[in-house]
Amino acid sequence: MKCRVCRGPAVIDIRRHNAAFCDQHFLHHCREQVRRAVKDHQMLLEDDRVLVAVSGGKDSLALWDLLVELGYDADGLYLGLGIGDYSDRSTDAARAYAAERGHKLHEVDLAADYGYDIPSAAAATHRAPCGACGLSKRHLFNTVAIERGYDVVATGHNLDDEAAVLLGNVMRWETGYLGRQQPVLPDAPGFVRKVKPLIRLGEREMAAYCVLRGIDYIVEECPMAEGNRHLGYKEVLNALEDRSPGTKSAFVFGFLDRVHERFAGDAGAERAELGECSVCGSPTTGDVCAFCRLRERAGGG
Ligand code: AMP
Ligand code: FES
Ligand code: ZN
Ligand code: ZN
Repeated sequence: MKCRVCRGPAVIDIRRHNAAFCDQHFLHHCREQVRRAVKDHQMLLEDDRVLVAVSGGKDSLALWDLLVELGYDADGLYLGLGIGDYSDRSTDAARAYAAERGHKLHEVDLAADYGYDIPSAAAATHRAPCGACGLSKRHLFNTVAIERGYDVVATGHNLDDEAAVLLGNVMRWETGYLGRQQPVLPDAPGFVRKVKPLIRLGEREMAAYCVLRGIDYIVEECPMAEGNRHLGYKEVLNALEDRSPGTKSAFVFGFLDRVHERFAGDAGAERAELGECSVCGSPTTGDVCAFCRLRERAGGG
């Protein structure tokens, strides 16, 4: 296996690009894919202050690394979810990366700062923990970014994540979600811009990137997410990709280029009717926002 660029020994092959790369040219490939995603979807301006949501996993640490390499002013935000050992080890990974490279990491802890954690929220709502978790993350990424003066929040969602979410939304024809499924969500009153610069890179590429860059990340997945629907979609897509490389990116980018627009109206209607949460001031359709209601129910209100 030889590097497509220099013909030296390759360390990774990427079947959907029909290409293999040596270590240096693979790192270059990753940077170029991020550069292209940012440019194609107009994700970032040169002097934006970027807040990278870092979980301690491979994707978000690699994203932080890549954005700094590309010259962006990017700080990290870690959210302590209170999921036992898993959260402790994620905290360590995020802190260690920031400390070693001298980057600034903001930390918010659900239990200490908001009086609840994901297990207590799941128990109180009698629902899968991922719902409360996703809601808490979306709310706090946005609030922290606004309060601390960032222009944009970047998350580590990669091509595999986007394809799985898209498949899930298509299977259930969630038209509102399909309308919002974009690699960049523009800012709006009360919302900062949200971007997914890893959309052109797969899970395997992100793991390889971290190994080559010496980034220690937490390998285990969240124990509360085990067996969720999302993971099932990933398995199905991996089987398809295996038979026919390029399927995932054709699915995601075909949707973005040719289909997404048709659902844009379904997403827009919801944002139009927003008022302010009477507790925290965040945009909401009701009197009290979903985050404050969750917090109240989970014992932190
Ligand atoms: P997930 O929802 O776990 O698939 O994670 C998607 C993205 O959300 C990650 O790539 C991170 O950018 C961000 N994220 C997940 N967990 C955390 C966390 N505990 N703190 C900060 N950001 C997170
Ligand atoms: Fe959210 Fe596990 S990371 S429930
Ligand atoms: Zn090479
Ligand atoms: Zn609120």
